[in-house]
Amino acid sequence: MNYDLFDDLPGHTQRLCLQEGAVLLRGFAISAIGNLLAELEKIIIAAPFRHMLTPGAHQMSVAMSNCGQVGWVSDRNGYRYAAIDPETGRAWPEMPAVFLELAQNAAAQAGFAKFLPDACLINCYVPGAKLSLHQDKDERDASAPIVSVSLGLPAVFLFGGQKRTDRPQRYRLVHGDVVVWGGAARFNFHGVAPLADGTHPLLGRRRINLTYRKTV
Ligand code: SIN
Ligand code: FE2
Repeated sequence: MNYDLFDDLPGHTQRLCLQEGAVLLRGFAISAIGNLLAELEKIIIAAPFRHMLTPGAHQMSVAMSNCGQVGWVSDRNGYRYAAIDPETGRAWPEMPAVFLELAQNAAAQAGFAKFLPDACLINCYVPGAKLSLHQDKDERDASAPIVSVSLGLPAVFLFGGQKRTDRPQRYRLVHGDVVVWGGAARFNFHGVAPLADGTHPLLGRRRINLTYRKTV
């Protein structure tokens, strides 16, 4: 677990450099959370969380939804971005302004100006849920970073290197933390260790993660 090497930024955010191109902005989302959760509630009514199947037909332990012009989906045919939610047959809910502004500000703070994500994957973890090490590589624009916002229960984020076999570093992410990775770290392997049990005052027995991408 790494707790050191933080730079203080204006506005009380601390920035930890994970690797070249990857930073953890501690508490960066805190001031936006009230508005984020109000919008999230509406998104989840329109596009409920669901457990997708991997191409190997395993049900994922993380439940997912999306907002934006396209959403990340997985089924027996593979992973892809789709404009229509396969569960509802409708377009994904629009990305709310408060979602977009947070991602753009975080990206800028991490050195990626003018980030314009068109997709936001919304992950819901309950205790025991995990995300295996993977690369985000279904996006066409490799110059855009990934921005990831953590809400609710704390999680251990695994951040590795370019090869699956590179041993990942472990970072504890809490409510309000934002991680941005791009540039030299854009295709680094990453994942989430099985969520420990607990109860969060706002989100209960859950962790919600927003992952923004520019897909085209
Ligand atoms: C992801 O890699 O899509 C999500 C990472 C996280 O939940 O922190
Ligand atoms: Fe990912």
